[in-house]
Amino acid sequence: MSLWSRRVLPYLIEKAGRSHAILEARRRWVPRAHGDVLEIGVGSGLNLAFYDPARARRVTAIDPSEPLLARAAPRAAGAAVPVELVTATAEAMPFPDASFDSAVMTSPLCSVADPARALAELRRVLRPQGTLLFVEHGLADDERTRRWQRGLTPLWSRVSGNCHLDRDPRALLAEAGFRGEDIAAGAAEGARWLSFTYQGSARPA
Ligand SMILES: C[S@@+](CC[C@H](N)C(=O)[O-])C[C@H]1O[C@@H](n2cnc3c(N)ncnc32)[C@H](O)[C@@H]1O
Repeated sequence: MSLWSRRVLPYLIEKAGRSHAILEARRRWVPRAHGDVLEIGVGSGLNLAFYDPARARRVTAIDPSEPLLARAAPRAAGAAVPVELVTATAEAMPFPDASFDSAVMTSPLCSVADPARALAELRRVLRPQGTLLFVEHGLADDERTRRWQRGLTPLWSRVSGNCHLDRDPRALLAEAGFRGEDIAAGAAEGARWLSFTYQGSARPA
C-alpha cells in the first residue's frame, strides 16, 4: 500500500468528515438507527459517537481500509453501544441473509468499486422491514455542475480513494430496489461539485 493510501488519505478523509454540514447530518440520521445495525464504510468512525443506546443494540461496522479501521478502533471502544469493526467490502459482506434491522452509510457509495453489487448485498443482509439511513454526496441537480463532476471524476477518483463525484445515490438506490422515504438533496457548504448531498432513509421495496 502506498504512503498516500496508508497515511495521507486516511488523514484527509477524517478531516473532510468533520465539516459542519456533515456533522449536522450525522447528528440528524445516525441516532435513528435501531436494533442490530450495519454501518458500511465506517472510515475513521466519526459516526460512532452518535448511536443512541436506547435504540441501537449493537453496531457492526465494515470498511476495507485497515488504516481507517485503526483510527476507528478507539472510537469503537468509547461508543455508547457495542461496536464490532470488520474488515470487508460492501460488495461481499461476510454476514448471513437478513442479519440487520438498520444500515447506515455516510459517503461510501461514492467510493465502492461496484455500487449496484454493494446495494444488492445490502438488500440481502438487511431484514425485509429494515431501514437504510444515508448521507451521500453525488451528482448535482444542475447541468453545469454535472459537467464539472463528470470531467473531474477520472482524476479525482485516483487521488481520493476511488471517490466518484458523478454518481446519483437516489437513482442507484431505486435501481437496487430501495424505496426512498424522505430524501432531501441540495448543496451544503463549500464547492457545489463536492458538496451536493442526498440524505434520507430508504427501505427494501
Ligand atoms: C468518504 S469516506 C467516508 C467515511 C465515513 N463513512 C465517514 O462518514 O466519515 C468513504 C469510505 O468508504 C470506504 N470504502 C471504500 N470502498 C469500499 C467498499 N468497497 N466497501 C465498503 N467501504 C468502502 C473507504 O475506505 C472510506 O472509509
